[in-house]
Amino acid sequence: MIIAFVQTKGGVGKTTLAVNLAVQRVLRAGRDVLLVDADEQGTASDFAAIRAERLGHTGFAIVQLTGAAVRNQVLGLAKKFDDVIIDAGGRDTAGLRAALTVADLAVVPFQPRSFDVWTLGKVAALIGEARVTNPSLQAVAVINCADAQGPDNQAAAQVLAENPEIAFLDRPLGRRKAFPNCNAIGLSVLEAPTKDAKAIQELCSLAEGLASLAAKPR
Ligand SMILES: Nc1ncnc2c1ncn2[C@@H]1O[C@H](COP(=O)(O)OP(=O)(O)OP(=O)(O)O)[C@@H](O)[C@H]1O
Ligand SMILES: [Mg+2]
Repeated sequence: MIIAFVQTKGGVGKTTLAVNLAVQRVLRAGRDVLLVDADEQGTASDFAAIRAERLGHTGFAIVQLTGAAVRNQVLGLAKKFDDVIIDAGGRDTAGLRAALTVADLAVVPFQPRSFDVWTLGKVAALIGEARVTNPSLQAVAVINCADAQGPDNQAAAQVLAENPEIAFLDRPLGRRKAFPNCNAIGLSVLEAPTKDAKAIQELCSLAEGLASLAAKPR
């Protein structure tokens, strides 16, 4: 399956979720994973480099691609891997659009506090456009950096659930220090020196939810 993390808004957790999902699929599901860094910032590649230095290997393959190459290369590479996970970057780029034309599943992270209907509309429009060439593209919104409590999660969930282009996957991830701490040392939250059980449970729940969606026939 090809899963693309997409959002035209920056800093919502695309790279964090993409790298954690990549490691989760390798460690917990025994999958052969290719991580595609389609963001010119190269954050996922930096993560992989730190990881390789620390562990001696990444556990997954990684390639950095931009523009139309995201489509052309991924179409060929997908045959060699069980899962391809694309980190599509935080702007409306040719790479992001190309990713949407090859993905089975687009995952759109939202943060409840910075929730912004305009962003949802913009991403939904990109997904609608991609479905012209990729009609079986599934798309789900997930809440990342959920508050521990308060009305914002609920408000965000309600707006997300009403969008016709993007389904709402109710498997939120809380705002947890384990994520930035692990990002900085090239590890997933599964591998943290000090484990955060909630972060692990939320990551595995998200991974399960995505896997069951992707298992649906196209
Ligand atoms: N669930 C979380 N809890 C706490 N911090 C998080 C969580 N998810 C992401 N972060 C932190 O938020 C910041 C932005 O995350 P990340 O870089 O993954 O976002 P992004 O969408 O890939 O950004 P960009 O658009 O710049 O590529 C990072 O410092 C990351 O460690
Ligand atoms: Mg990123």
